[in-house]
This record gives sequence, C-alpha cells and structure tokens, in this order.
Amino acid sequence: MSSREDYGKKLEEQIASCKTEWRGLKLISVEQFSCEKIDELFAVSRTMKEMVKGVKGCDLLKGYILSNIFFEPSTRTMCSFESAMYRLGGQVVRVLPGSSSSKKGETLDDTLRCLECYADICAVRHPIKGSVPSVVPYLTKPLLNAGDGTGEHPTQALLDLFTIQSELGTINNLTIVMLGDLKNGRTVHSLARLLANFEGISLICVSPDSLKMPDEVKDVLGKSSGGITFSEESNLEEVLNLADVLYVTRLQKERFADPEEYSKLHGSFGISKQVLLRGQAKKNMIVMHPLPRVGEIDKDVDSDPRAAYFRQMENGMYVRMGLLALMLLGP
Ligand code: NCD
Repeated sequence: MSSREDYGKKLEEQIASCKTEWRGLKLISVEQFSCEKIDELFAVSRTMKEMVKGVKGCDLLKGYILSNIFFEPSTRTMCSFESAMYRLGGQVVRVLPGSSSSKKGETLDDTLRCLECYADICAVRHPIKGSVPSVVPYLTKPLLNAGDGTGEHPTQALLDLFTIQSELGTINNLTIVMLGDLKNGRTVHSLARLLANFEGISLICVSPDSLKMPDEVKDVLGKSSGGITFSEESNLEEVLNLADVLYVTRLQKERFADPEEYSKLHGSFGISKQVLLRGQAKKNMIVMHPLPRVGEIDKDVDSDPRAAYFRQMENGMYVRMGLLALMLLGP
C-alpha cells in the first residue's frame, strides 16, 4: 500500500504534468473550464479520493493557509474546503459575517485584500450575485467563488460533474433532468453551463412556471460546442423515464422578496420512492441534490441505490482538495 509520502510524490508529479494554467487561478465561473482542464482536475481528485480512503491525507500543502470567508450560511461547502485543506496538511482561517469588520461597514474588497495578506488562497461566499467576480481586480492571490447569490457556484458544479462521471462512467450522451427552483438555484446555473462542454447532452428542466431557468443560462447553452438539447416541462413524471440523472434542488427561500410567494410554491415539487416508481425511473439512473434538502426528496429515497446525493457531498471534499492543490502548486 502507498504511504502518505508516496501519495504526496504522486500528486506532485500529476500536478506538474498538467498542461493548462492553474496556479493563481481566480475561479469565478465554470466558463473558465475546458474539457482538458476538467480532465486534469478529475484525475487529481481521483488520487485524492484514493489517498483519503487509504492513508487519510498527506503534507502536500503544509505551510499554506486557506481563508474561508462566508457571508451566507454553509455546511458542506465551508466544511469540505476546510477538511480538504487539513487533509493536505494546510491550515484554515475562517471569517464569518457576525464577527468580522463587514459588520462595521467594511467593503468586500477591503476584507479580501486583508485576508490575502494572511492567507495563500481565499474561498468566498456572498449573497449578492456578481459580488465575488467584482473583487477580482483588487486581488493578487488565487480565489474560489463559493457561491455568489443567484449567480454561480462553480466548485459545486465541478463536484457534481465528478459525481456523474464516477457514478455513470461518462458525461457524454446523457439525459439530465433538473427539478426545482431553477431561477434562483446557483448550482443548476453552473452545472448547466458546465454541461455545455460535452457531447450529446439533453437537458430537461422541470420547475414551477415562475422558477424557470434564466435566459442568460439558456443563451450559453444555445452557443454550446456539443450542441446541448434543451427543453422545459411542467410534469416530472412524464419525463422521468428518460433521465440518467435527476438533479433536484430546493426552493431558495432566502431569495424570495415576497414570503407569500414562497409559501405558495413550498411543497409544489418533490420526489419519493412512489414518484420514482410511477415515473418509471431507469434502474441505473442517479438522483442528485446539492443539499440541503427541505422536503423535496423524501427520506424513503435515501436507501435506494440510485440516491447519489450523499456520495455527491463526499466527492465535494476530493474535488476541493484537487482545486486547492492545483491552484496553489500547479503550472
Ligand atoms: C447549495 C448552495 O449554497 O447554493 N448548497 C451547497 O453549496 N451545497 C444549494 C442550496 O443552498 O440550495
């Protein structure tokens, strides 16, 4: 069995052999990713997974510090970034809104300029769309967009894609059904954009009328190199039998200006074992969800082997280990 040192060496070699530019990347949008870049990330992430399963981690990022700056709640994204850094021998400085100078009125770019002095890489989550991209001109060190309002969530989309590839063995020629709040959910915006890189994808969006996929995302799909087919449906059970992937999202309560509108839509979509049965979901399809869920996937689905959402969240740590290592040590 390989030792921690062996894995450290293997990762160093794998990272050095990458052809695309990684070091210092400011990861704002999945549109910065080509198929080649995705392949490089996934190869390193697979090694990370194997290493964690075997020897827990290594000292590849010893001496490096990540700053996690989160102005919105987070369990998976924040903790997986932190675990990723610790597993690679690095350390983490965390900034939370209640206890930081943003409470005194400090701007986001000033907060980040400060954290850049202390850390080697920053991951930032903020409720306003466009806020994370807007700080890029002020920063010199690598940056990870950990979610900007209803905008993008690129690291989530990358771990989603890694999960699809790990579970189904391919990304091409798949039918992906997205269900839920497609207007406000940033994970589906990023995943749809990322899928536009691949061949023969059919994307079927199922949502309440007022929560459809925004035009700006559809425009990107229209220009996709692989010729993604896009359609919108209102009834999940009519299209469920086509799905290789069913990607469920929650109603984004915090993005609703009108609480009544939220209450009206709450419970208007969701799946259970019965729904999978009635919709004749394929035997080898997978159900994904970025989590948290708030009722849109019944617990009775959890024991179904097609429920991939817990494996998906575990993959988040491996892919984030890959991103941290490549953005700090890559070519
Ligand atoms: C998502 C997010 O924050 O956008 N969660 C996550 O990062 N895993 C999805 C959500 O909050 O609905």
